[in-house]
Amino acid sequence: MNYKHLFHWELLPVLELSKYSDLEDIYTARKINAAVVNISGRQRMLSQRIAFLSLKLINSQENEQNILRQELVEMVNLMEKSHNALIHGDRSMNLPGKTSDTIKAMYFYPPLNLDRQLHDYLVAVKALVESPDTELTPNNPHLTYISQQAYGELLQAFDTVVSQYQEESETEQLELDVKYVELYSKSFTVAAQAEEQAAELQKVFAELKQAQTKLLHIEKMSSLGQLVANVAHEINNPVSFIYGNLSHAEVYTQDLLNLLEIYRENYPDPTPEIQEKIEDIDLDFLIEDLPKVLCSMQIGADRIRQIVMSLRNFSRTDDTEMMQMDLHEGIDTTLLILQNRLKAQPKRPQIEVIKDYSDLPLVMCYAGQLNQVFMNILSNAIDALEDAIGNQEKAVIKAAPEIRIRTEITDPDYVTVRIADNGPGIPPEVKSRVFEQFFTTKQVGKGTGLGLSISHQILVDNHQGSIRCESEPGEGTEFWIEIPVKPAQKT
Ligand SMILES: Nc1ncnc2c1ncn2[C@@H]1O[C@H](COP(=O)(O)OP(=O)(O)O)[C@@H](O)[C@H]1O
Ligand SMILES: [Mg+2]
Repeated sequence: MNYKHLFHWELLPVLELSKYSDLEDIYTARKINAAVVNISGRQRMLSQRIAFLSLKLINSQENEQNILRQELVEMVNLMEKSHNALIHGDRSMNLPGKTSDTIKAMYFYPPLNLDRQLHDYLVAVKALVESPDTELTPNNPHLTYISQQAYGELLQAFDTVVSQYQEESETEQLELDVKYVELYSKSFTVAAQAEEQAAELQKVFAELKQAQTKLLHIEKMSSLGQLVANVAHEINNPVSFIYGNLSHAEVYTQDLLNLLEIYRENYPDPTPEIQEKIEDIDLDFLIEDLPKVLCSMQIGADRIRQIVMSLRNFSRTDDTEMMQMDLHEGIDTTLLILQNRLKAQPKRPQIEVIKDYSDLPLVMCYAGQLNQVFMNILSNAIDALEDAIGNQEKAVIKAAPEIRIRTEITDPDYVTVRIADNGPGIPPEVKSRVFEQFFTTKQVGKGTGLGLSISHQILVDNHQGSIRCESEPGEGTEFWIEIPVKPAQKT
């Protein structure tokens, strides 16, 4: 084993690199970039949501009105706070408050004047919230102003500013990447002079790896989770419009079709012009097909709604407190997200998922984290099954590929989830290492070796549960997860 060689060429430069404080700066800059883009996008979304709730406020009952008023006040406050933070900076939000001249001009000068516009908008919302009940009518002037702005000038201004933020962030990202590569190549030269400090090196390297793992984990999960949550949130409203209106569309269409029928009965001899149009549009076919079209639209909208709901569920980013979770719901959501990978592909049949669920109590846990555990284990199972089929010469796969999920109560206070696949199994020398950080048998770029170590950390450290693996080569693999229904209070 040419360990020395590896050490020289791979570890040293990385280590040298870690000494540059610039590296820290690069990470910080990336974080700031993400925060700016995130929060400016959220401002846009909040402005839309405020308009939606304002409209709802007018159309709701008195007891609901108070809740809506409260919600609107909170949103106004949040928008004001974020606005100030974007312009002047706010440490807690990771915002530097350094804006480019272009962005400054967008805030403070015509034609956009976003600062002024937003101010007027929020004043109108506050006025609406404070209007006496008798003035909460559809022609309330504040409401008119809010709707006009939210879907007109203000929206345009937000769109412009958000895309400018995005553009600037991308440019900076590129600069950062260049700087990173520069640092990296520089570190190669320095490395040549530092060969003796091997022992210390190893220690620092281990620390660096640890930091990197954490970074990878946190950054990947939080930015991905945020993104998914934002996207799901954004899609939710328009889908609700479609979904909510489809039933009306159906009734209207039926009414129109009925009316048409009555016309035809009462005026059996249409004029030549009408007759020509009837043939032109193939009326009989249209009458037959229109309800079917609507029906399939309904099915489609239903499906989108379900997926959006799953995504929101899955990406729960508010994982700071434990909550009661239905584990089956978490597993099903994860399966839904993985559906694409389970489907039949040109080179292999569909992966069958067999669920063997028993009656489970709700479990007190960090739902987002447990979803991640399910995701890691299920993805590994799919990888293993795919690998087995891909390697025909191994001829390991005897039956159709399947994943079996079993849940049960093993002890009044514990729930067990078993996830098994009938893939190639794990040889003993690999099995003893699967929970190690960075241990992977997959190709570079495919495996990170983090999935199981993170799952272990989530279950053992964060939930006082356990995870173990049972497997024989050729006999498939089964992961056993045990979670206390209620974890012991940490002191
Ligand atoms: N269901 C499975 N069947 C066979 N091998 C598995 C299975 N699950 C995990 N492994 C092994 O455990 C290793 C570590 O898994 P993991 O920590 O998720 O990292 P990664 O998937 O990135 O390799 C995998 O590379 C693989 O060798
Ligand atoms: Mg994995």
